[in-house]
Amino acid sequence: MAQTYNLILKISRYDPDTQRSWVQGYPVQAGEVLRFVDVLRMINEDQDSTLTWSSSCEHGMCGSCAVRVNGKPVLACELLVGDAVEYFKTYTFTIKPLTIAPVLRDLVVDLETAYERVRVIKPYIIQAAPVHPEGDEYRIPPGILQIYESATRCINCFCCAQACISRPARFLGPNAMLSEIVRLMDHREMARDERMAILYGDRGVSRCHTSRACSHVCPKQIDVAHFMALAKESKFILNKRDIAE
Ligand code: SF4
Ligand code: SF4
Ligand code: FES
Repeated sequence: MAQTYNLILKISRYDPDTQRSWVQGYPVQAGEVLRFVDVLRMINEDQDSTLTWSSSCEHGMCGSCAVRVNGKPVLACELLVGDAVEYFKTYTFTIKPLTIAPVLRDLVVDLETAYERVRVIKPYIIQAAPVHPEGDEYRIPPGILQIYESATRCINCFCCAQACISRPARFLGPNAMLSEIVRLMDHREMARDERMAILYGDRGVSRCHTSRACSHVCPKQIDVAHFMALAKESKFILNKRDIAE
């Protein structure tokens, strides 16, 4: 039978109209299989309809529900109450918004501002290669595809950017770098020099301190720090075939 816990949630509140910030405590009785988005919704329905948070897919695919639970950046739609109790060894949880962008209200941050750091790397094909002469497909060797597929699991939830110890004013961040690396591994991309200039530029991978915090918190289990290390070893300057070998 599923276990039920008596939780205390201490949630950061912010009212943009009055610019008042405070922490509000909510006692909640929640089963172990409920997710944190379910608990937040219960608070909205039973205690406080003004508590504001964000979610969209509620399936770990959009990244819009990222918050800090007891200091750790997590997806609220993936974190189960039972797992949180076991991991943090407590029934009391602080829930705070990410700090990677200004807070709009309570747990909601301005993702438009956060995305500015990703937009710098132009997350699209800048200059498309001609299609393969034998057909309309682009061919990728299996070794490259495996690495590429892992990197493309990124949903830009900014959990890694939140955990990153490098200063955001100087570093575009692990997810922006990963996005750049994805495009460099993409056989369709011809604008490699432009991409290299960003990857190895002033706000690029040289700002990474190899702390591995990004890999530790990534909800999609991407070893982001490994990609940073490969980039720092200039692996992405080489022919794509070299990365697989
Ligand atoms: S690399 Fe992982 S933690 Fe970072 S934005 Fe992508 S999915 Fe989120
Ligand atoms: S390994 Fe680099 S990118 Fe990842 S959290 Fe540490 S400093 Fe940031
Ligand atoms: S709501 Fe989409 S990842 Fe959580």
